[in-house]
Amino acid sequence: MDISVKNQEMTTILSNASIIGVFEDDKTLTPAQEKLDKALGKMISNDLIKKEGFKGKFLDTVIVPTQLKIPSDKIMLVGLGKKKEFDCSKLRELCAKIIKQLDKTLNVKNISIELLGLKSGNFEAQDCASAMSEGFLIAMYDYDKYKTKKTTAQIKKIRIATQDAKDEKAAKTGVNNAKIICAAMDFTKDLINEPAQNATPESISQIAKNLSADLGLIFEVYNKKQLTEMNFNAFLAVGQGSEQEPKFIHLTYKPTKKAKKKIILIGKGITFDSGGLDIKPANSMLTMKTDMSGCATVLGVIQAIAALKPDIEVHALSALCENMPSGKSYKQGDILTAKNGKTIEVDNTDAEGRLTLADVLTYADELEADEVIDIATLTGACIVALGQNITGIMGNNPDMIKNIINIGKKSGETLWELPIFDDMQEMLKSDVADMRNTGSRFAGASVAGRFLQNFTKNKNWAHIDIAGTAFIDKPYKELNKGATGVMVRTLTNYIMSL
Ligand code: BES
Ligand code: MN
Ligand code: ZN
Repeated sequence: MDISVKNQEMTTILSNASIIGVFEDDKTLTPAQEKLDKALGKMISNDLIKKEGFKGKFLDTVIVPTQLKIPSDKIMLVGLGKKKEFDCSKLRELCAKIIKQLDKTLNVKNISIELLGLKSGNFEAQDCASAMSEGFLIAMYDYDKYKTKKTTAQIKKIRIATQDAKDEKAAKTGVNNAKIICAAMDFTKDLINEPAQNATPESISQIAKNLSADLGLIFEVYNKKQLTEMNFNAFLAVGQGSEQEPKFIHLTYKPTKKAKKKIILIGKGITFDSGGLDIKPANSMLTMKTDMSGCATVLGVIQAIAALKPDIEVHALSALCENMPSGKSYKQGDILTAKNGKTIEVDNTDAEGRLTLADVLTYADELEADEVIDIATLTGACIVALGQNITGIMGNNPDMIKNIINIGKKSGETLWELPIFDDMQEMLKSDVADMRNTGSRFAGASVAGRFLQNFTKNKNWAHIDIAGTAFIDKPYKELNKGATGVMVRTLTNYIMSL
């Protein structure tokens, strides 16, 4: 699907459908809409708004044939809702709805559309074009790799019409950024959706290697023998029950200019989480191929960063392994010495993510970065607290967390801060080691965060829990069900904002 921008009246663009936005509380047509209305014999103002009573309620749509070939054989009015409430988030959702509906309508191959709701004054042309493109591209994602019958989109071309040269330029930048970010999201979603039989530590490190070669990133990979020497003992314990060899990958993007900042992203990379000897009930295991979503996210972000080229050095790290029960598995009561020397009593083999992240956080400390952000499908407790559409965030720097939450809001992704209190360490107390890997059932997401805090010395550390949001079982706004690519947008935009 190709999206392009051109400074042109919609009356002069030939398409199968022209799309016009109407506010609920302000139905006066813009000059451009008026021209189109005139070309269509007052079809918009008279027939649809006056006679048919199109209300312009948010997400309302009506598609009507024009009986003309020029400029288009169909017209679609879309409701923008109340002018004051219209924002980029609504715009994304609306564009997702538009594209899905038109793709199911007979004979729509190309569409022309204005910068929807620009007259609200609530956003600039660049953000408008960006949000529109994201809505279109995210909604059209489909995972059909293993279906013998592929679904192909009917719509091939979207032409965004602007009304002045400045808007045209800004909209082009917006569309371009959206294409980069959505391609990265597609990559992340594909990797998450890939079954664990094929998404193994080995195959994912190969994918990361190829990605690095394509994008000019530095790529390092470490195998079990090397990781033993590097004291990744907590991580290696988690993977030891599996037939798959664990891998640790480290990708680096270096700007051509001197870097303003150095940022480390860490993604949880459990390629399948059976729970280990604390085996999960069958139902809970059904989606555990997605337990490497953090890894897929940081790979997506660094892909987008390589294309957007900020003056920021970005590292993507992931410790990849499978959590499986076997005669070689790590066991309840085992005591592990993490890379930073702290000892951990294994209380529950299903709290494996934090053990793998612990050693990577210590490795990250050695790189001496300005900020460290880890992202993980870490706790069921986070899903209980925030559901499937809100991502949990916590850490040791309130300003950094606030910034990420704000960028998330603009990016169309909701984050909510959960607390970490020092005295939560009490819940991790062990009789025989420095700590154990689980607390009680209570405050599970925060206690997991408190655990991780033992393994970083960085003063700017944030932990993002995407257990609920990485993979959803109901569509939400522009997102289809399945893998969402959540946090690719937020983290990319966050790094670009630094
Ligand atoms: N990967 C799971 C968390 C998870 C659950 C992600 C559901 C996505 C959907 C994690 O490794 C886990 O099993 N956590 C345990 C921790 C507990 C044993 C302290 C949990 O949340 O139940
Ligand atoms: Mn687990
Ligand atoms: Zn897990």
